[in-house]
Amino acid sequence: GEEIKARIELKRQAALEGGGQKRIAAQHAKGKLTARERIELLVDPGTFRETDMFVEHQCTDFNMASTKIVGDGVVTGVCKINGRTTFVFSQDFTSFGGSLSRTFANKICKIMDRAMEVGAPVVGLNDSGGARIQEGVDSLAGYAEIFQRNVLASGVVPQVSLIMGPCAGGAVYSPALTDFTFMVRGSSYLFVTGPDVVKAVTNETVTQEELGGAGPHTRKSGVAHDAFDNDVVALARTRELLSYLPQSNREPAAPRLTTDPAERADLALDTLVPTDSHQAYDMKAIVGRIIDDSRFFEIMPEFARNIIIGFARMGGRTVGIVGNQPLVSSGVLDINASVKAARFVRFCDAFNIPLVTFVDVPGFLPGTQQEHNGIIREGAKLLYAYAEATVPKIAITTRKAYGGAHCVMSSKQLRGDVNLAWPTAELAVMGAKGAVGILWRSVEDRGAAEEEYNRVFANPLPAAQRGYLDDIITPSTTRRRIIEELDILKDKRQQNLPKKHDNMPL
Ligand code: COA
Repeated sequence: GEEIKARIELKRQAALEGGGQKRIAAQHAKGKLTARERIELLVDPGTFRETDMFVEHQCTDFNMASTKIVGDGVVTGVCKINGRTTFVFSQDFTSFGGSLSRTFANKICKIMDRAMEVGAPVVGLNDSGGARIQEGVDSLAGYAEIFQRNVLASGVVPQVSLIMGPCAGGAVYSPALTDFTFMVRGSSYLFVTGPDVVKAVTNETVTQEELGGAGPHTRKSGVAHDAFDNDVVALARTRELLSYLPQSNREPAAPRLTTDPAERADLALDTLVPTDSHQAYDMKAIVGRIIDDSRFFEIMPEFARNIIIGFARMGGRTVGIVGNQPLVSSGVLDINASVKAARFVRFCDAFNIPLVTFVDVPGFLPGTQQEHNGIIREGAKLLYAYAEATVPKIAITTRKAYGGAHCVMSSKQLRGDVNLAWPTAELAVMGAKGAVGILWRSVEDRGAAEEEYNRVFANPLPAAQRGYLDDIITPSTTRRRIIEELDILKDKRQQNLPKKHDNMPL
């Protein structure tokens, strides 16, 4: 009786200590929090309920039978975040370097299965030396079990990965399969093979940071959706992200009350778009004036900055915002911008989040670099994503909507529910210069020809006269209009043809 209670208590204490004080101090010295400290910051105070605290690995090779750490290197359980049920795992670098054993993987799989059954998000905090070398193929099987669940959960419950230390080799593919991946600057890295292997195979000398730090992954590869200065900020921002999302694909996102009046008219919007159509302006400033409380949770702010994506609320409801950004390369669509926005549109569609798209796009980026890397296939992804989406789709054309890019950006014919334009909108196959250069090559007075072209096309009337635009609105009324339309669309039901799955261009 008493003896067993004491033994249980000892095990419990051991589990709470992870790899011991020395390794915890080393973790802190790197500016990193421990697995349990991270959970404390992530969850609503006092709500974490741990599962499998007493689990130990079953490996006997390499003298492992005498080397056990209670909990086996990962802390798993369920908690509340913003008052809502969320499943969490937190890899403990102080226990076997956070390396993944078969039992470690089983713990993660157990909470993932429960998350799918009850319909609640999974947040994974990654900080691991990879596959537990002593376990060999058991460890690899463990990874594959997790990957399988990541895929089954995709589109069913939101999955968020935080990279808060090393994440290398097979370990990278679980975060890659989840919906959002955040990194911590300076203390996290993600790569398939580390600098030593890179050197051996390609003779390239590169540091961990250069190869797979937050910089390259938020700016160049687009593998990470954002990076933050330290663990504390990363965890706080994750809580904020989750506040915008539904619990699962079975539910709408939880609305949040706002004191920002729905009918608030922002007169500055009436003059924000420059009359000279070559002059840039900041689409984020426009979005900020329209959404609730100017609060925009931007996703991938540093990657393909010619398009902006992120979550906001309108009249308290979560919306997914997509906007061409005239400040960066005139808001042109290129490979990176297309893929960035396509995945976001698909996330929103999977999770019942209406899409609000701000259009000012001069077309697709020309050139061999883009063509040879497959802008045709990659651009098609964004088109595909909008076309298949059945959530409410509202688009506002603020200025240019040229050519194929016009069709792609949530156009009426891609089952856009409400397509609005500001008086500054220009919907055409191309701009005046290009058109005159092709059609009226030999005319003397090109200026006059361009003027005539602009008179006909550089305005929203031709599209509105054909019903391709539902209305032309005064910019300052945009907020009220969108909120009213979202209310009308709140029970929208639309279904695509039954199929096993689609075959989107990959
Ligand atoms: N399997 C088993 N144990 C591992 C491990 C792994 N994959 N990775 C790290 N560890 C253990 C280390 O043996 C060490 O144990 P100790 O505290 O008892 O000495 C502890 O975790 C910390 O590792 P250490 O190497 O001291 O930490 P570091 O911060 O200097 O380096 C890594 C971290 C991740 C760069 C380094 O541990 C590493 O390269 N690990 C192997 C990565 C890998 O190739 N994994 C397989 C890919 S799937």
